[in-house]
Amino acid sequence: MKTLKLLAATAAATMLVLGTAQAGDAAAGKTKAEACADCHDPADFAGEDTAALTQMIKDVVGGKTKHKAKITVSDADAADIAAFWAAGG
Ligand code: HEC
Repeated sequence: MKTLKLLAATAAATMLVLGTAQAGDAAAGKTKAEACADCHDPADFAGEDTAALTQMIKDVVGGKTKHKAKITVSDADAADIAAFWAAGG
């Protein structure tokens, strides 16, 4: 029984870590967003929902949304840039 409880606690902790990673890292996003800075001011995205913004960036990358420039960002990069932009830079 003790082992089971420990396993459950470990699983919960792992999920917490993964959840944090998915939410994006604004500090890392600052560097990554430099590729977008010529055309995008982070302040324009201040207060946006990070998850929605992440999806918007993914849609641009995937070609679902028409975009002026071809951008290549991984899903993790999209989350980081979104976190940075949503914070207003
Ligand atoms: C050469 C200029 C240019 C660069 C570089 C650029 N963009 Fe854009 N982007 C635009 C323009 C123009 C629009 C449309 C007008 C607007 O919303 O500002 C746009 C719109 C967007 C949108 C909104 C799409 C929507 O659903 O309305 C997102 C998200 C976006 N860009 C992400 C990025 C990301 C991420 C990068 C960097 C990796 C980037 N852009 C680099 C010009 C650029």
